[in-house]
Amino acid sequence: MLVEELRSDVKQDVTERLKELGVKTEVKIEINNLDSDKKGFIALPLGFKLASELGKSPENALKEFLKDFEFSNSHISSTEIESGYLNIFINGESFGKDLLAHTQKKTILDLDNGLAVIDESSPNVAKPMHIGHLRNTLLSASLNEVLERTGYEVIADNHLGDWGGQFGNLMYAFDQWGNKNKLEEQPIEHLLELYQKFGQLEAKLKGEEQEELRDKGRKWFSRLEEGEEEAQELWEKFRDVSITRFKETYNILDVEFDEWIGEAFYVQEGYTDKVVQMALDQNVAERKEDGSVVIEVGEPDPETGEKPELVILKSDGSTLYSTRDLATILYRKERWDPEHIMYVVASEQDKYFEEIFEAAKLIGLDYNFTHVSYGMISLPEGSMSTRKGTIITARQVIEEARSKAKELVEENNPELEEKEKNETAERIGLAALRFETLKYSRKRDFEFDKEKALDFNGETGPYLLYSLTRAKKIVRDSKVDTEDFSLGNLSKEELRLIGTFSKLPLKLSEAEEKYDPSVIANYGYDLAKDFNSFYHNCPVLDAEAEIRKQRLALTKAYIEVMQEVLDILCIQEVDLM
Ligand code: ARG
Repeated sequence: MLVEELRSDVKQDVTERLKELGVKTEVKIEINNLDSDKKGFIALPLGFKLASELGKSPENALKEFLKDFEFSNSHISSTEIESGYLNIFINGESFGKDLLAHTQKKTILDLDNGLAVIDESSPNVAKPMHIGHLRNTLLSASLNEVLERTGYEVIADNHLGDWGGQFGNLMYAFDQWGNKNKLEEQPIEHLLELYQKFGQLEAKLKGEEQEELRDKGRKWFSRLEEGEEEAQELWEKFRDVSITRFKETYNILDVEFDEWIGEAFYVQEGYTDKVVQMALDQNVAERKEDGSVVIEVGEPDPETGEKPELVILKSDGSTLYSTRDLATILYRKERWDPEHIMYVVASEQDKYFEEIFEAAKLIGLDYNFTHVSYGMISLPEGSMSTRKGTIITARQVIEEARSKAKELVEENNPELEEKEKNETAERIGLAALRFETLKYSRKRDFEFDKEKALDFNGETGPYLLYSLTRAKKIVRDSKVDTEDFSLGNLSKEELRLIGTFSKLPLKLSEAEEKYDPSVIANYGYDLAKDFNSFYHNCPVLDAEAEIRKQRLALTKAYIEVMQEVLDILCIQEVDLM
């Protein structure tokens, strides 16, 4: 890729020159905007380091650096020294011409990072998918696009929460208060209602009575663990209705997974037993007096000197979330032996994953683990609690974004057919939701405000889409062949646009390094802004023939680059706004 070539050429030249001068320092390269007249497209903060090494002022040190020196990349036109910086200027015309000749739809970096198995989305069965899972799902989908373009082969695994003590409670609740018809008609609502009823009762009861209730839940769960038919059937029913509902949501969001291996699988197939045994055999884990099994992980307590314990088996022999995670790693080793195992999971579980990774390594399941942790998403309406019943589901949020978008489409295009209005509104609503979810760096908490996310002039998905429809309209109206164009007399806006086009590969590798698509979302916004100022300052169709061709070529390149950005963010285009 052009800009990478440029960067690596500069790096190589500078490294060699520094060697000649006997100076040891890391070469830092800053890339600016192509239209920034003072700083140049590339700037090297080299002066101070050189100054101290050569015993000269930064200015003189850089002068010495430049003596009888020339950059090898032919796009570089001149250099300037400015307060400790070496600023490098490039020829926008030749660079732009090269760049435009090579924009192709998909940006694939020539890297080989191997196979990555990634835990994605992973909602809990028998509960609605909440906005946290929504953030997860959108983040994961875009992360896959980033990784696939940076040399990874991705296996996206929806690690469903379909096992655990809570199912015992739910079965007990269904047995007591459930209704078969309701389970058919409104499965998730009914299960949520039962789950809440159990939770409220549990909170109300005290002492022995509370224990009794919990015991009833536990009994049902043991029946399930022993594979007793009635329990097994109920569990399967809960799981099936949940998956059906999840799939509807995934369909709306247009996301897919390669695997749907839930937690239960690892228990039922014996992987949990196997991993606990491995840990015991290797003396990594210890069986306590009460029968539970633990692994020591983390930093020892400064006072007692004791290490914290991660429980991997309960005293009654049943598995925990941690057991199932360790078993999952074992399974992945046996099935794929991948180069990377990644987890897109909320930051609430940061500490938990540190412990799991450490425990896995102790057991000899030593992988390149990454916890792709993300912050909270909240709504102006406030937070939520499944138990209190104030849950805000993913579907509600999607629906709100869609209906708000519909109002806007009605306003702007009253003459459209209903069907088209709905389709457009759906896409715009989702674009707003996606962009808003992706634009904050993943660790940050943010509040989803649908008005803000749908502002056509804001830092939003619809703004990106709007700029694209404008560009497409210009090309449609032009009816000119731009195959053969030259670049000359580039305006500030045109230069800037070319520079911005060229940066996509850099942004892609930054997004990969940080496991964070927000890099691409922010780049997309800059790109749209640069196009809009080009659009306002550089008439395309009204320009004289040569300039018109040049600007049309830039407009077409914009369309390609923006479409690629939208693909990475998983945002679908619209034809009108
Ligand atoms: N089901 C869990 C939840 O909703 C997330 C599971 C994440 N993945 C994992 N391997 N632990 O909180």
